[in-house]
Amino acid sequence: MNDATGGSDLASVASIFRPGLLDGQVALVTGGGTGIGLGISQLLAELGAHVVMASRKPANLEAARADIESRGGKVSAVQLDVRDPEQVKAAVDGIAQQLGRIDVLVNNAAGNFYAPSATLSPNAWKSVVEIDLYGTFYCSQAVYPIMAAQGGGRIVSTSMTLHYRGWPMMAHATAAKAGVDALTRTLAVEWAPQRIRVNAIAPGPIPTEGVRKAFTPPADSGVPDVFAAADARMAEYAKKGIPLGRWGSPRDIANMVAFLASPAGDWITGSIFVIDGGEWLAKAPS
Ligand code: COA
Repeated sequence: MNDATGGSDLASVASIFRPGLLDGQVALVTGGGTGIGLGISQLLAELGAHVVMASRKPANLEAARADIESRGGKVSAVQLDVRDPEQVKAAVDGIAQQLGRIDVLVNNAAGNFYAPSATLSPNAWKSVVEIDLYGTFYCSQAVYPIMAAQGGGRIVSTSMTLHYRGWPMMAHATAAKAGVDALTRTLAVEWAPQRIRVNAIAPGPIPTEGVRKAFTPPADSGVPDVFAAADARMAEYAKKGIPLGRWGSPRDIANMVAFLASPAGDWITGSIFVIDGGEWLAKAPS
């Protein structure tokens, strides 16, 4: 079970899915070696998929690969910057050549940080929009011919909920994720004839190390720094700010990805699934 702060033991929640559910499938998870991406990689591998984890930083992948292998999972790692369309195409073609197919693409790689819009540098804006939005498009476009040729596939992109209302100091990320939502709906319709299901997940607050780093606002910004609070205060925030009363865990998100990758997702496309304990619907904590 998760504790009040969300829990950090990624494998502590027993899978509700039957063993072997994803046997024979190949799944590519960008940003798959850490945080939510790691939780997704672990669950898909646990269910029998061969998981290819991609990251800009190979160091992020080694421990994850060893962990999945030690549990008997099939896993490989590829170094990849999703902002570079040629690199993306070469990596995706290499995976298809080596493993014969790509059934699932999880566009999980993201970059976020709090910064005031008035002084956000062009390169800072570009970095986040390129990772979150362009990267999602480049990876989706690269898997298209492979999925189309094999008769279908699943794309699950990572959105967020902050753009459902105004969220100060997140102009770059909220704009990019609104684009991810639009892209999800458009590709879902455009690629349905090829039986490529395109959906998105919108995770709520999950205190992984990367999220803590990305969502720590500058001092004196007036934006509440919930992650910097001690665990007791985090538990208090969970009780007040999250209707279901606890932080999320990577496994909470991974479960939805596994569902969408399974036959249960056969008739689902163009949907954006909010997985946040009801947080965005509740009044924002001040
Ligand atoms: N506030 C303002 N600007 C920032 C910033 C911050 N906290 N962090 C980075 N930037 C700016 C940099 O100053 C740079 O702009 P400049 O050239 O005008 O100075 C630009 O963003 C790119 O930074 P850089 O570190 O060179 O980019 P990168 O490509 O190596 O990293 C990021 C990408 C910027 C998204 C980085 O935050 C990152 O890798 N984050 C880790 C992953 C992550 O955020 N995960 C999200 C979990 S929700």
